[in-house]
Amino acid sequence: MSKYQRIVILSGAGLSAESGLATFRDTDGIWKQYDYRDVATPEGFQRNPHLVYEFYNARRKSATQAHPNEAHRALAQLEKSYPGEVLIVTQNVDNLHEQAGSSNLIHMHGDMQTMVCTNCDAVLPWTKDLSDDLTCPECELTGGLRPHVVWFGEMPFEMNRIADALSKCDLFVSIGTSGNVYPAAGFVAAAKHVGAHTVELNLEPSCGASHFCECHHGRATEIVPAFVQHLVSGQPFEQCQAA
Ligand code: OAD
Repeated sequence: MSKYQRIVILSGAGLSAESGLATFRDTDGIWKQYDYRDVATPEGFQRNPHLVYEFYNARRKSATQAHPNEAHRALAQLEKSYPGEVLIVTQNVDNLHEQAGSSNLIHMHGDMQTMVCTNCDAVLPWTKDLSDDLTCPECELTGGLRPHVVWFGEMPFEMNRIADALSKCDLFVSIGTSGNVYPAAGFVAAAKHVGAHTVELNLEPSCGASHFCECHHGRATEIVPAFVQHLVSGQPFEQCQAA
């Protein structure tokens, strides 16, 4: 029998970094270029919708051109081959997990390939640019479309399902996230509370590194496949990393 039956994996921008998508808080990060209050809050959208549309249109374009990397692929393989349950909760708004083949997935911060109509609440797939002169295909009103992403001050999606999974997990793995943003930054504490083993896989120690039972630091494309192999084979992580 496998050591863990219910695995919850939290992923962040560091997982997609080697696919060419910028992180937020690294030296070349998105929040070094933009003030999050201007582009990732409801107030910013009200003040200057054009800037917000431009910001997400550019990010959607980069994400559409990006491909999943070895780390995304290893996690998809884990879901397919692991005898226990594997749930990925991602803070990323790209769709590289899906492209790699993961299906048990929650986009807690939404998804740039979807838009929501603020007039009728319709949520629809959307891969083109968004602007304020577009008409909602459901209610036919113009001007109410926005990216279906969670902004600061808004509630992340599917929190009940995430809380339920955390309350039952026996392994929690956090990958490529700096641990700055709650509620995701608090998931490690929730998992520890129910006795789960907790692991951080990140380029460098995150803000919450001291809360994890086990930490491995390095590039996601190296340490994630090694950790997946360690889970599947039962071999020590170091041996899998050297392989
Ligand atoms: P951050 O930019 O805060 O953190 C990314 C983390 O990934 C950092 O700790 C990096 O060291 C690490 N990293 C960078 N390159 C890596 C690599 N190749 N391999 C492994 N790790 C690497 O991004 P998040 O923690 O995802 O929210 O940010 C969380 C939320 O803050 C985002 O979802 C977004 C942002 O504001 C909203 O916009 C609401």
